[in-house]
Amino acid sequence: MIIGVCKETGHNEKRVALTPEISQKLTAMGLTVTVESGAGMASSYTDQDYLSSGAAIENSRIKVINSCDILLAVQAPDKETINNLKPGAILVSFIWPLQNRSYVEHLKLRKITSLAMDTIPRISRAQSMDALSSMSNIAGYKAVLIGADILDKYMPMMMTAAGTIPPAKVLVLGAGVAGLQAIATAKRLGAVVEAFDVRPVVKEQVQSLGAKFVEVPLEEENTETTGGYAKELSDRNKEKQREVIHEHVKKSDIVITTALIPGKPAPLLITREMVEDMNPGSVVVDIAAEQGGNCEITKPGKTIHHNGVYVAGPLNLPSSLAYHASKLYSKNILSFLTLLIEDGSPNFNFDDEIIVNATITHEGDIISPFVLENS
Ligand code: NAI
Repeated sequence: MIIGVCKETGHNEKRVALTPEISQKLTAMGLTVTVESGAGMASSYTDQDYLSSGAAIENSRIKVINSCDILLAVQAPDKETINNLKPGAILVSFIWPLQNRSYVEHLKLRKITSLAMDTIPRISRAQSMDALSSMSNIAGYKAVLIGADILDKYMPMMMTAAGTIPPAKVLVLGAGVAGLQAIATAKRLGAVVEAFDVRPVVKEQVQSLGAKFVEVPLEEENTETTGGYAKELSDRNKEKQREVIHEHVKKSDIVITTALIPGKPAPLLITREMVEDMNPGSVVVDIAAEQGGNCEITKPGKTIHHNGVYVAGPLNLPSSLAYHASKLYSKNILSFLTLLIEDGSPNFNFDDEIIVNATITHEGDIISPFVLENS
């Protein structure tokens, strides 16, 4: 089996799907690894590192694609790349099948076996394969650094000969993987942190990180799916949430928003009016920008200055920490391939919950129940 890895072509994408460390592990499993020359450079992995790990370096991208049995990628490769894969070849990458239906049709037509890192179920057994968590962790961490960088205040309390400076106040909205990491990072920098999430189970997690949980008296409603994700709130509860959040936003130096609802645009949590009520110099970092944003005035990919307040809508934060993002993603892939590959070849055991949900297309059919149920 030949594993192929190419340089990512997505806009501003610096990650690579396979690091030399994991390449060595795949080689030890009896697989052959071929890497396009320069594929790791944007994330600080050199061709020499790959050669030392036992991989071959190939100058021609097309040769890597033509010859591999399994193509590893971060972002779903373009259709031209798919057209150049061998029939029956396997693709492992982020695919976002519900958002990219025509792409999935293309994979089906080309009889590519596509395995999506984003549809691996988030069960305990799959924790080491959970690339969504690996990347969300980075996004939450980086969001705080961006906020701290823009803010013209100290984050920690400072006692100096020239006077005492109080700590910055940080509010985190949405306390999933990214939000919890944002809380932890802001605490490490010495800020006073509070957070809110619609899923009641999160309260204890927020408190265990030393942050205050903002209580919003919601009318009784099931706010969580059986899979542990948030549901969209009723209009009455949305209104109640905005009233309470408004009071906390006004007093915050930095607001980090991370709220998402699977398959829907990001919920609107911060209105224009709330931003206009913030103190000049305050900062909103909206990392839900990719899904439209949690703040009414977010411009995805830009930092704007509105009424004295900075509103940042950064995109693809994991790429900005490309060395570690690649390292973690690559380890997630290794765990997945270790499950999939038996005696040197892939075993598509569709009785396995992880494999069946990750398999978007196989032999011209859509397999993943996650995709079929949401079609
Ligand atoms: P996500 O990225 O889909 O959403 C981020 C957060 O936004 C969630 O905590 C959600 O409850 C919150 N949210 C949605 N609407 C909101 C609103 N109106 N106001 C405030 N907050 C709102 O979530 P993520 O980070 O992907 O994690 C979702 C869940 O997945 C986890 O909490 C957990 O239950 C599960 N999970 C399980 C893992 C495992 O056991 N292996 C690993 C990681 C996650």
